[in-house]
Amino acid sequence: MALISPRTYNKSLDASGGGLFLNLRDAARGALNRAAALQPRRYVAQMLIRSATVEDAPAISALVTASVREHIASSLSDAGLSHLLSEMTTENQAKRIRNGYQFFVALESDTLVGTAAIRLPSHLYYLFVDTQHQRRGIGRQLWNHARDWIASSTNHGPITVNSSLNAITAYERLGFAIAGPPEENHGVRYQPMWWANAT
Ligand SMILES: CC(C)(COP(=O)(O)OP(=O)(O)OC[C@H]1O[C@@H](n2cnc3c(N)ncnc32)[C@H](O)[C@@H]1OP(=O)(O)O)[C@@H](O)C(=O)NCCC(=O)NCCS
Repeated sequence: MALISPRTYNKSLDASGGGLFLNLRDAARGALNRAAALQPRRYVAQMLIRSATVEDAPAISALVTASVREHIASSLSDAGLSHLLSEMTTENQAKRIRNGYQFFVALESDTLVGTAAIRLPSHLYYLFVDTQHQRRGIGRQLWNHARDWIASSTNHGPITVNSSLNAITAYERLGFAIAGPPEENHGVRYQPMWWANAT
């Protein structure tokens, strides 16, 4: 999508040097916001959201694999399901974390109950909540956390997501809108969406 974010636009205007002070001030504020967004935050019911490390990869893999089987498999061909599951191994999650994907984990009593991941600069790559813990606001808290993190970065574009077909309504409730026709990759069908409340 060929959209220029207000940040990119301001940056090019400021390239003349006239906005140097503003840029430095904004950069300092962005750095502070980003540092705050990376701090673990406690939510109601003793839930904690923090950045993931490679040590979290096995639990992330187990949660997303179970969720795909339970919620997404019925909308996929056999080939699509097997491709998606092959992407969700512990090894692949660890590789993503090492390669700079920003993962967040939601924990209740040290048990993983949800995860969100961002492929830089601003693609919501994962949003999964354990089945037993769904419809309690955890997905929204994870999304808010991921959105704040993206907003604190200086160079992001529109926030996008490729929604599995089962999750479209939930994403709409979170403020996303359909961004084009459904697409398919390796037998995996998904709905491109973008966050319509972006400023
Ligand atoms: C999508 C998902 C992450 C939502 O997590 P959650 O913790 O249940 O979401 P929340 O309780 O925070 O609800 C957020 C909003 O979505 C709505 N919502 C959640 N699940 C929904 C569903 N199945 N159908 C319709 N609306 C839904 C809620 O009503 C809420 O809206 P509201 O605040 O306006 O009432 C979770 O259902 C999930 O993990 N699904 C399976 C995995 C998946 O498909 N993930 C997307 C991969 S791209």
